[in-house]
Amino acid sequence: MGILDFTGLFEYTQRELTHLKNCQRAIIQVPTLIPHELHQKYRQLFPHTEQGLIYLNHAAVSPLSTRVLKAQIAHLQDRSSGKIETYPDDVKQSERTKGCIDRLINAESWERIAFTGNTSDALNIVAGGLDWKPGDRILLNDLEFPANVYPYTHLKSHGVEIDLMHSTDGRISPEMIYAALRPRTRLLALSAVQYLSGYRSDLALLGELCRSRGILFVVDAMQAAGCVRIDVQEMKIDALAAGAPKWLMGPQGIGFLYLTEELQARIHQKNFGWLSVEIPWDFFNFDQGPAATARRYEGGTVNIPGMWGFHASLTTLLEVGLDNIESHILTLTEEMTTKFQEAGLRMYSPTDSRERAGIVTIWPPEGLDATAVFNELTKEHVLASMRGGRIRYSPHFYNSIGEIHEAVDRTIAIFEGLSSQ
Ligand SMILES: Cc1ncc(COP(=O)(O)O)c(C=O)c1O
Repeated sequence: MGILDFTGLFEYTQRELTHLKNCQRAIIQVPTLIPHELHQKYRQLFPHTEQGLIYLNHAAVSPLSTRVLKAQIAHLQDRSSGKIETYPDDVKQSERTKGCIDRLINAESWERIAFTGNTSDALNIVAGGLDWKPGDRILLNDLEFPANVYPYTHLKSHGVEIDLMHSTDGRISPEMIYAALRPRTRLLALSAVQYLSGYRSDLALLGELCRSRGILFVVDAMQAAGCVRIDVQEMKIDALAAGAPKWLMGPQGIGFLYLTEELQARIHQKNFGWLSVEIPWDFFNFDQGPAATARRYEGGTVNIPGMWGFHASLTTLLEVGLDNIESHILTLTEEMTTKFQEAGLRMYSPTDSRERAGIVTIWPPEGLDATAVFNELTKEHVLASMRGGRIRYSPHFYNSIGEIHEAVDRTIAIFEGLSSQ
């Protein structure tokens, strides 16, 4: 049996689960930075880097590259004083954009992808479309961003039970998930990377576990897509949702849903529109069934200007290379974690690099107010974010190691300054 070949391992014990986890992680390579010349080429697409700003808040929203800006402006100009009726071009571009998403997550085909307005819309298509029976259970955890909570808790009115796992130190390990499974668990809802603790779940292991138990595995990839590798087929993910504006560096108001054909066949679709059908331009035939592809969930015209920008951001990420991006980000977050630890700070994000992606979160030293720290950091031109009394840094591929050192030094200087007041 190869390292990743778990076929036949249907009944896990705790020990087996831990063993599989260790095997899998042993093959992760040591991350490195993107080579200097390539890095400089793409860094130039982000003009704020020339303005003395150290932007480390991609877990909230990414800056738009000049390519994204140009793509959106070009489209808007065409709509204003060019072709005006751009629809045929938009349809082709929409297929190309789905092709990029397909490459991003290794879907079976671009036809398994539907555009949505955001992550929440995508999750609601799945959560709201399943045939829930009273007593069915959904496994959730207390680290999740609310976008990945309410589509499920809302189902309590259908008699669905929610099992909310309690995290420890910002982690929800596969062992904890395994232990929380119940005979009526029908769906595991999980973020690939947690928005605040930055904990990165072992999706391949959990996908295998869910598939072997007939449990649907639905992943919120908002903090992972564009940052770390996702392979929906290898990871046996049934549905995956993400929006463009964070790690995918695209505009707001556009996101996507991936789902398998098998899951699609089980969904009782709530909303239908003219674009849901097989041949939308066959206006006079009202007897059409839903499209075979995931386009059936789009209903009406999607955010077209957003889609043009999204295409530009996706092609840029694919050009840089998803492995390069992941490797660079992991190097930056490793460096940041090491430096903060050396300074004796208390980490909220994982200290084990195998559980980390693009987020580093620290607790300010005892007695220091996080708001004061955050305000000082902003004055020092380091843009991070403050969530629940913690400071969260989230660098992307165009950030440099020098910026990471600067951000750590300025943070520590602020801590020292505020402590001595
Ligand atoms: C894990 C996660 N999911 C979803 C969202 C946002 O959802 P939406 O795209 O619906 O606005 C966020 C935003 O912070 C997030 O961190």
